[in-house]
Amino acid sequence: MGVFSLRPLLREDIPALVEIDSISNDPCWTLENFKRELELSHSLSRVALWESVPVGFGIAWKVAEETQILEIAVLPQHRRKGIATQILSELSKESVKSGCKKMVLEVQKDNSMALKFYEQQGLKIVGTRKNFYTSSQSKQNIDALLMECDLPLP
Ligand SMILES: CC(C)(COP(=O)(O)OP(=O)(O)OC[C@H]1O[C@@H](n2cnc3c(N)ncnc32)[C@H](O)[C@@H]1OP(=O)(O)O)[C@@H](O)C(=O)NCCC(=O)NCCS
Repeated sequence: MGVFSLRPLLREDIPALVEIDSISNDPCWTLENFKRELELSHSLSRVALWESVPVGFGIAWKVAEETQILEIAVLPQHRRKGIATQILSELSKESVKSGCKKMVLEVQKDNSMALKFYEQQGLKIVGTRKNFYTSSQSKQNIDALLMECDLPLP
């Protein structure tokens, strides 16, 4: 049985997180993107470690009284172990401490696993953003579903 823990993003995690993102649905996080998060005072992050090795991450922004989830990704071999649930829960708790009242996010319309995950966490679809994403592989435009829920999470 491995030992699993969570902590905020550190500079040394970044290459591993780029790797984790690169095998997720639609890779978009570069070294520079992660480095920028370290500088932003409104950025919240959690890295999931399994036996001290990063296996997942979550990044959110606190904007006014909203927590915007930018990305959560877990390595395929560590999925369905509750890791993303723990990441979302910690991001939620930390943002509530700094006054956030609502969680919002966009998810690709065709990303059924992420939709199921967020619905299971209590988020509801409240709208669509047409052509919000451009697939890095097919270059096609993909609609986003806008999801939200009140904080704290149910
Ligand atoms: C979505 C993702 C982050 C979920 O991570 P995870 O650590 O496997 O999620 P959890 O184990 O915490 O799942 C909690 C619950 O969500 C639901 N769920 C998660 N993945 C699911 C899937 N593939 N199919 C159906 N339900 C799913 C289930 O109800 C699950 O509970 P259960 O395992 O007891 O049935 C992961 O699949 C992933 O990294 N996907 C690629 C990146 C991505 O698309 N990120 C979202 C865009 S921001």
